[in-house]
Amino acid sequence: MPLVAPSILAADFGNLSKDIDMVNQSQAEWFHLDVMDGVFVPNISYGMPIIEKINSLTDKVLDVHLMIVDPDRYISAFKQVGADILTVHYEACTHLHRTIQAIKAEGMKAGVALNPHTPVAVLEDVIKDLDLVLIMSVNPGFGGQKFIENTYDKVRKLKQMIMAANAQVIIEIDGGVSIDNAAQLVEAGADALVAGSAVFNASNPSDYIAQLQKA
Ligand code: DX5
Ligand code: ZN
Repeated sequence: MPLVAPSILAADFGNLSKDIDMVNQSQAEWFHLDVMDGVFVPNISYGMPIIEKINSLTDKVLDVHLMIVDPDRYISAFKQVGADILTVHYEACTHLHRTIQAIKAEGMKAGVALNPHTPVAVLEDVIKDLDLVLIMSVNPGFGGQKFIENTYDKVRKLKQMIMAANAQVIIEIDGGVSIDNAAQLVEAGADALVAGSAVFNASNPSDYIAQLQKA
């Protein structure tokens, strides 16, 4: 059974507390929170005040996905607003090993995200240091995009790498996830599924979350 992380990017920001309540009352384990800087990705989303508010309204795990350049500058700030898992992009970190250690030193779980063009092999020498790898199954920046089919192969390769290293790493998939591909992703080795538009556009979002968990 996969962990499900609804992405708040697809929520109704005019009625955020209503959507937070929906997730709270659902079986979802995590909140997925997307931070975009308009530089690393061609979009700007939201930042610390929103995350801090969500943290005050939930006991669930806050899974924060940073799509920003030079994330090292903000590691302790995200800890302060309540991040439990902090994921940075491989493509945005020159000294990735140092960044991972800095996240863990703050008491958070450390994740690394890979863009669709980045092979999983680049993580071979840090895989044992990681708590989570996020495979982007769309190009980051926007919700509601089409799932990239090559993701299944990447998940299988990553799973093999994790097993060969005897490491404990959560494989999370982000982008275009729905009940149409959830079961196949889990079969390939996915442990956690992020879903934004599929959940929040569903006629019954909490029921949709439950269906994703059955994948
Ligand atoms: C995209 C974000 C995703 C996004 C997913 O850059 O990282 O978390 O919210 O949205 P959907 O599920 O609509 O593709
Ligand atoms: Zn995300």
